Amino acid sequence: MAIFPFDIHASEGKARTGVLKTPRGDIRTPAFMPVGTAGTVKGVYMDQVKETGADIILGNTYHLMLRPGAERVKKLGGLHKFGGWSGPILTDSGGFQVWSLSKLRKMSEEGVEFQSHLDGSRHMLSPERSIEIQADLLGADISMQLDECTDFPSTHEQAKKSMELSLRWGKRSLAAFGDRKDQTLFAIIQGSIYEDLRQRSAEASLSETTSGGYGGFAIGGLAVGEGHEAMCNVLEFTVPHLPESRPRYLMGVGKPIDLVESVARGVDMFDCVIPTRSGRHGQVWTDEGPYNIKRAEFAEDQAPLDGSIKCEASQSYSKAYIHHLIRSKEMLGAMILSWHNIAYFEDLMARIRTAIAEQRFKDFADSFRSNWKG
Ligand code: GUN
Repeated sequence: MAIFPFDIHASEGKARTGVLKTPRGDIRTPAFMPVGTAGTVKGVYMDQVKETGADIILGNTYHLMLRPGAERVKKLGGLHKFGGWSGPILTDSGGFQVWSLSKLRKMSEEGVEFQSHLDGSRHMLSPERSIEIQADLLGADISMQLDECTDFPSTHEQAKKSMELSLRWGKRSLAAFGDRKDQTLFAIIQGSIYEDLRQRSAEASLSETTSGGYGGFAIGGLAVGEGHEAMCNVLEFTVPHLPESRPRYLMGVGKPIDLVESVARGVDMFDCVIPTRSGRHGQVWTDEGPYNIKRAEFAEDQAPLDGSIKCEASQSYSKAYIHHLIRSKEMLGAMILSWHNIAYFEDLMARIRTAIAEQRFKDFADSFRSNWKG
């Protein structure tokens, strides 16, 4: 398969900044990927997403296979054309969404059988079918291996069994991926909070050599209830087992403080629904944490959300107006806040990249921690 070139331009401690080069464009790292679950970054136009500085978005196998159907997306020209995003797209393999959303799921060696959360229809997702959907039908630039997100908490024995299933599914995902040009596949490291299991998962994934091995390594099974400290701890002992030369992606994370702490521990890529999901509920993200624009104190506040962020949503509407829109349940309120929050997350990543390039990330992280009240 294609292994996309990953050039690291600067590093400071474990933090690094660089560029992952894909045929559809460069991804500046550390990168935050807005989540485009069903072919849309909810409430935000693709050109607005692009303008915030996002280089890549995420799509979901699970949602798209159920509606409108992966074959239909293929028939309509693939996910890039269908959704109007010409840059790189990473798709998640479906295992995690089945784990968190579907009504009934039955795991077997073959794959996962589940009932749709939409209409109760029955489906089967195997490693081979997940790769077919992601790479052939949706046309993802980066596909993820099918994995099982280990429940939290889990005993060592349960976590080991689950991690080993993910390893076998990874091997099958890699074989199914084969020698595709212009597309790549990432492994997902599991093992819950157990150091020996994370190490085993990383080493076994690294030792796979079919078609040149994996193009990158994700860390899964985090932000599932273990808490910030435990997550940082897992990163601390997992990242050193991953190769320096490949991108490291922390799945489903997180709050701004999580991003800063994870970059400090060597993570290069992130995705999270927080900016859009919380925006729909009136949350505004800042370096101090989130606040809710519905609060009475904003009823007559004429200031913009954040004059320092180069984004129309952040600069051109008053807090009073957005307060009114959200309180009135006007959809524009959710749209403006989702757009602003993505711009805030992308601006934070840009500041992180610059700080690493200028060798002042440690100071940046220290001052971020002391400002953070979230
Ligand atoms: N998104 C957040 N966590 C996970 C995970 O463990 N596996 C997958 N496939 N996606 C995720």
